[in-house]
Amino acid sequence: MKELKYLNKYLYKYRVRLLFGVLITIIARIFSLFAPRLIGNSLTAVERFIKSETTPIEVIKEELFWNIVIIISAAIVSGFFTFLMRQTIINVSRYIEFDLKNEIFEHYQKLSLSFYKNNRTGDLMNRISEDVGKVRMYFGPAIMYSINTVSLFVIVISYMVSIAPVLTVYTLLPLPILSVTIYKLSKAINIRSTAVQEILSDLSTFTQESFSGIAVIKSYAIQSKVNKDFKELTYLSKEKNVDLAKIQAWFFPLMVLLIGFSNLLVIFIGGKQYIDGSLEIGVLAEFIIYVNMLTWPVATVGWVTSIIQQAEASQKRINDFLKEVPKITSGTIDETIKIGTIEFKNVSFTFKETKIQAAKNINFKLKLGETLGIIGKTGSGKSTILDLISRLYDVDEGEILIDGIPIQNYNLAALRSEIGYVPQNPFLFSETIESNIRFGKSDASFEEIEAAAKSSAVSGNIERFNEGYKTILGERGVTLSGGQIQRISIARALIKDPKILLFDDCLSAVDADTEEEILKNLNVSSKEKTTLIVSHRITSVKEADCIIVIEQGEIIEQGTHSDLIKEDGFYNRLYLKQNTEKNQ
Ligand SMILES: Nc1ncnc2c1ncn2[C@@H]1O[C@H](COP(=O)(O)OP(=O)(O)OP(=O)(O)O)[C@@H](O)[C@H]1O
Ligand SMILES: [Mg+2]
Repeated sequence: MKELKYLNKYLYKYRVRLLFGVLITIIARIFSLFAPRLIGNSLTAVERFIKSETTPIEVIKEELFWNIVIIISAAIVSGFFTFLMRQTIINVSRYIEFDLKNEIFEHYQKLSLSFYKNNRTGDLMNRISEDVGKVRMYFGPAIMYSINTVSLFVIVISYMVSIAPVLTVYTLLPLPILSVTIYKLSKAINIRSTAVQEILSDLSTFTQESFSGIAVIKSYAIQSKVNKDFKELTYLSKEKNVDLAKIQAWFFPLMVLLIGFSNLLVIFIGGKQYIDGSLEIGVLAEFIIYVNMLTWPVATVGWVTSIIQQAEASQKRINDFLKEVPKITSGTIDETIKIGTIEFKNVSFTFKETKIQAAKNINFKLKLGETLGIIGKTGSGKSTILDLISRLYDVDEGEILIDGIPIQNYNLAALRSEIGYVPQNPFLFSETIESNIRFGKSDASFEEIEAAAKSSAVSGNIERFNEGYKTILGERGVTLSGGQIQRISIARALIKDPKILLFDDCLSAVDADTEEEILKNLNVSSKEKTTLIVSHRITSVKEADCIIVIEQGEIIEQGTHSDLIKEDGFYNRLYLKQNTEKNQ
């Protein structure tokens, strides 16, 4: 129960409701005891009549009639309180599920990018849905049945002992066996259902990938291979499900067998006592009802134990992530960036997982309004430079200064609020184009959105859609071309009107004329911004105030376009190559 301790704060939060739940459970149980008592009484009364025949039939009839009325009323009251019990306790488990999901999600949001690179999305999703679901079972059914069982036991058993102690011992004898059996069975069921869950998640990953990658599958004509793989997976899934069904099939027969055995014992021992004259017929009848009343709660002890074990395992997985501390911590300077000068001082950075040194002793300085072009082969470390500025990763050596202040000292949100970042693989949400652009500035007016779209040369495309800016993107909406996605992401960065703009190869999918138009617009708007443009194309960077060429994390060339084309280096060769391509 070590891991589940973490959740005690939620038990405390909902203590009033839970206590209320306990109270009504006890009331419901007390009322459910009326029926056996009165059925017993009725039988005794009938026996009395048969044996003596002195009591007039009308008196017996009247007694039986009132017994029936009380039994029905008690059943209604008990049913109502049982309903309230479920309403209270199961609802609490839903509240806690809600709180816990939000807590985990908020924590996820705080964790650094490297956490996301090291953990699979499916795993993150599973912990917030499946595992939280298992933990909810602990708060809901587990707590509810425990309270139910304990209160029923205390009330019923103490009552049974008071009227027939010996018979009580015999009645309860088979119950522990029942409980242990159910526990063992539930455990086996859990193991097999975990296997089913695992294969199910493989199956859904496979299905999802084959739908997303349908274009590749079709163009490579590998449908038959995909079909075969799918068949293998579904076969496995079928096998695991059959395994599960086999063991589940044991559940009810075993329960019925053990209940039957308990009944048999009561009838046998109680019957003997009745023949001896030491027991009334009504008490015997009462006890048979009690046995049946107690079997289900006893069975739930086994079941609840296995629920708690599962919840413990799930909470451990959740706690593992909750314990994860964000690697990137916020600084204390709450002010946002004032000017936007950037300086890299001997910056080095190595990716821990791959040991790849993506930045080696990088130095450069950018004044307000200046533009830096970054060129280099793929995998040379260009994106890393931008990631370091927005503190998606922290430098290992050296420092990055913005307005002369080390970036670690800024409050993280304040720092990022003045950075407009267009990633290499931009991501648009399945919402309208308008809200995707508005992401950069939540209170932007429609005119501002239009202006940003115009600057990033995408307004024409948007206006051609039937719904214009209200067009929904993504799976249920319009699919955009690569170049359109890039330009909407640029609009998202521009609308923010930040001091620093980071463009990561985000003009790669647009044609030469559009590129020129966007760059021209940028020049106008970025007079008061510091801009970094990563590109594979000379045309994107040639107007920059300074260009650096990166190779294996190091700056190998540095200067303006006209400087660099005079040297016999990477830049010049790229320039000549792209120039001849253009003229061909
Ligand atoms: N999250 C990561 N974990 C480990 N290694 C990484 C990670 N991201 C990048 N790398 C490695 O760091 C090096 C630099 O990567 P980076 O993305 O900065 O290159 P790039 O110059 O932007 O390349 P491209 O032009 O293809 O975008 C590469 O060798 C890459 O394999
Ligand atoms: Mg890159």
